[in-house]
Amino acid sequence: MKKFYITTPIYYPSADFHIGHCYTTIIADAIARYKRLTGYDVFFQTGTDEHGEKIEKKAMEAGVTPKEFVDKIIENSKDLWKSLDISYDYFIRTTDKKHEEAVQKIFKKLYDQGDIYKGEYKGLYCVPCESFWTDSQLVDGKCPDCGREVKEVSEESYFFKLSKYQDRLVKFYDDNPNFILPLSRKNEMINNFIKPGLEDLCVSRTSFKWGIPVSFDEKHVVYVWIDALSNYITSLGYPDESSEEFKKYWPADLHLVGKEIVRFHTIIWPIMLMALDLPLPHQVFGHGWLIIDGGKISKSLGNYKDPREYINSYGVDAVRYYALREVPFGSDGNFSEEALISRINTDLANILGNLVNRTISMIHKYFDGTLINNDKTEDIDRDLVDSVLDLKNKVEDKMNGLKINEAIIEIMEVLKKCNKYIDDTTPWILAKDETKKERLSTVLYNILESVRICAILLSPFIPTTSSKILNQINTKKVSYDSTANFGALELGILLNKPEILFARIDMDSKK
Ligand code: MSP
Repeated sequence: MKKFYITTPIYYPSADFHIGHCYTTIIADAIARYKRLTGYDVFFQTGTDEHGEKIEKKAMEAGVTPKEFVDKIIENSKDLWKSLDISYDYFIRTTDKKHEEAVQKIFKKLYDQGDIYKGEYKGLYCVPCESFWTDSQLVDGKCPDCGREVKEVSEESYFFKLSKYQDRLVKFYDDNPNFILPLSRKNEMINNFIKPGLEDLCVSRTSFKWGIPVSFDEKHVVYVWIDALSNYITSLGYPDESSEEFKKYWPADLHLVGKEIVRFHTIIWPIMLMALDLPLPHQVFGHGWLIIDGGKISKSLGNYKDPREYINSYGVDAVRYYALREVPFGSDGNFSEEALISRINTDLANILGNLVNRTISMIHKYFDGTLINNDKTEDIDRDLVDSVLDLKNKVEDKMNGLKINEAIIEIMEVLKKCNKYIDDTTPWILAKDETKKERLSTVLYNILESVRICAILLSPFIPTTSSKILNQINTKKVSYDSTANFGALELGILLNKPEILFARIDMDSKK
C-alpha cells in the first residue's frame, strides 16, 4: 500500500485560538481524508510546540510552572481539533519525554560532527514570534511578521552552520522544482534569504530556562526551531532509524504550513536533515492567511470569536466547507461571518441540501421509498451521466495539485447539474401520468446515483454531511472505486426518511 505522511505545524499552546489557526489543520485533514479514501496508508500528524520564553513568561504570570501551564491549556487544542472533526493519527507534544531525549541526541550529533559550534549572539529578537531578525529585515524597526517591538539580545550561544549547506540546498531546490509550493514562495526564499547569503543560526539560549537542556552544557536550552522542527521525525521514533514507523513513513510527503513559517521549513529543516544524513521531505506547501476586514486576525484588535462559536451556530461541516471552498489555496482569504452564512445558504442548503432532500422525498412519495429503475433512459440523461463519470478524475487532478477549492467546485458543478436535470425532467409532472412511471423511476435513480457519487467525493471535506447523505440513501456502495461507474447504487434498497442537512439561515437575524 502506498503511504502518505502529512503534517501540520505544531501549534503554540493557546487559550485563544481563532479561525485562522484552524485553517492549516482543516486543509491538512481534508487532504489526509482524501488520501485515505483513495487507498493510501496515511499518517497525519499534528501537535503542540510548548517550549520558549513566551510560555515561561505566561506561566510565571499565572503563578504555575511552565509544564503545569501547558498541561492545562493543551486540552484546548485537542478539544478544538475534536470539534472540527480532525482525523489526526498522532498528536506530538514537544514536552514528550521521547521527543526531548531525541532532540538532545540530535543536538549532540550535530555538535560532535562540527555543524554546531559555540559563539556569541548579538541580535534583534521578537519574543512572540520566537524569531531573530537582522536590521535589514525589520519593517519600520519592528518585527516583519507581527509588527511588534524587537529587543536587542546578546549572549553566549551555540550556532548551526547553515552557511555550510547553502550550495547543497540550492542544488536540492533545482533538482526538486516542486519542493516549495506555491512557486512564489520559493522565489521569496531564494531572493530574501539565500541570495544575500545564509547566516549561521543561533540554536541555543541561556536567558531563559523553559526549553530542552543542551545535554553537554546545561546552562543552555535548545533554541526553539531545532526543537520544534524535529517533531516531524521524533514522532516516528528517530533517532532509532530502524523503528517501524520511521522506515514506513519518512520522508514526509507534505508539510503544510502557513506562509510566515515557510522559511523555517524550507531552509533550516532541509539543512538539519542533510546534516543528519536523512532523506528530505517531498514537499512544503505554504498557504496564505485568513484575514478579517483585510487585516490580520488579532487578539489586540479583538476582531474574532472562538471558532467553536461558529461550529455551535452553523455546524462543523459549514465551517470546514467555508475554509476549504472560499479561499483559493495558497492565497490570503477574507473571513467574515456574512460570507460564511452566504456559503451555507447558496452551496450547502440550496445546491446540496435541497437536492438531497427533494430527491429522497420524491422517492418516498412516488415509490414508497424503494429505489427502482426501469431503464427508461432518454438523451437528456447523457450529459448528467457523463459529468458524473468524469468527476472522480477531475477531483483527483485538482487534489493532486492541492487545488482544494477547485476540487470542491467540480463537485458542486455536478450537483448544480442534478438540480437542472430535475428542473428539465420535471418528475412531479411525470408522476401525474401512470404511463410515465417507468421514466420517473429512471430519472430519480439517475439523480440519487449522482448524489451518492458526489457524497463519497465530498467525504474528505464535509465528512459528517457525507455520511448523513449516504445513510439517508441507505446504500452500502460507499467505496472510492464505486465512484468510477454510474449504476452501482443498489436497486430495491429502502431509503431512510429525508432529513434536512442544512437549514437556510436568515442573514438579518444574525445582525
Ligand atoms: N509553533 C510554530 C510552528 C512550528 S512547526 C515546526 C507556529 N505555531 S502557531 O500556533 O503560531 O501557528 C500554527 C499554524 O497556524 C501556522 O501554520 C500558521 O500559519 C497558522 N495560522 C495562524 N494564524 C493564521 C491565519 N490568520 N490564517 C491562516 N493560518 C494562520 O507557527
